[in-house]
Amino acid sequence: SYVDELTKLRYTTDAGFTDAGSNHNVSIRHTNPEYTKRYPQAENVRSFPGAVRSCYTLRPIVSGSKYLLRASFMYGNYDGLNMIPVFDLYLGVNFWMTVNFSKDDPDLAFYSEVITVLPEDSVQVCLVDTGLGTPFISWLELRPLKNTLYPQANVTQALALSRRWNFGGDRMIRYPEDPYDRPWFPWNDPGSLQISTEQKVERDESTREIFHAPSVVMQTAITTPNVSTDIEFGYNVRTDHVYPKP
Ligand SMILES: *[C@@H]1O[C@H](CO)[C@@H](O)[C@H](O)[C@H]1NC(C)=O
Ligand SMILES: *[C@@H]1O[C@H](CO)[C@@H](O)[C@H](O)[C@H]1NC(C)=O
Ligand SMILES: *[C@@H]1O[C@H](CO)[C@@H](O)[C@H](O)[C@H]1NC(C)=O
Repeated sequence: SYVDELTKLRYTTDAGFTDAGSNHNVSIRHTNPEYTKRYPQAENVRSFPGAVRSCYTLRPIVSGSKYLLRASFMYGNYDGLNMIPVFDLYLGVNFWMTVNFSKDDPDLAFYSEVITVLPEDSVQVCLVDTGLGTPFISWLELRPLKNTLYPQANVTQALALSRRWNFGGDRMIRYPEDPYDRPWFPWNDPGSLQISTEQKVERDESTREIFHAPSVVMQTAITTPNVSTDIEFGYNVRTDHVYPKP
């Protein structure tokens, strides 16, 4: 266990949350030293050879409450095979996503988030071997959310993260600036202008209760240098979903 330097949040060993798999140090660190510094969690993985379905059981959960779950993966050629596996991730019995690193790059890192209402007092996160290599995971995070946040997520429907940008920002925002430890990545465009204010950005009650975007994220923005320039913004919508319980 250790305290994360960036967020000051405590990360603990997964020993008490699964009885399967084996622990390995990565053999290649991320090529970006900033990544290695920021995510010591990526130094090591648990892998699950020879099992179709391997699960973590997270508890205690306040049944009927809203949570954010984040699963992160950094291959780092931990098995010396130099081959990134493709496997499935489940939230209980519900399909979460296929973990498929798009490039054959052993230091490629990847994370996925869902926001969901958890119906029981524990939740299982499972990795399923689909015959395309041994599933592994680097770290797993569970964050309680206020129930009024993200009304689109309820007990029958979860939300999957596409992107969460901090327009005009110059660094990633996490806990404690975001009380829910949502990573907000800086987004700037050479053709646009960064604008910012020193003043706290207060939102009206109704908006605050839905997204609760931190003031520091709202204090920066981008704008166009003149009226004839566009800001172009593109994103891919993943086709993966968390399916409702049958
Ligand atoms: C991983 O590295 C740490 C620190 O170098 C070492 O203490 C630990 O035994 C290693 N773990 C494995 C599974 O090799
Ligand atoms: C993984 O991604 C690659 C490249 O995008 C794609 O060709 C392949 O079909 C995907 N595999 C699975 C099992 O989804
Ligand atoms: C969950 O949200 C969806 C979309 O907003 C809605 O159609 C559905 O009825 C909601 N389910 C419950 C149990 O509230």
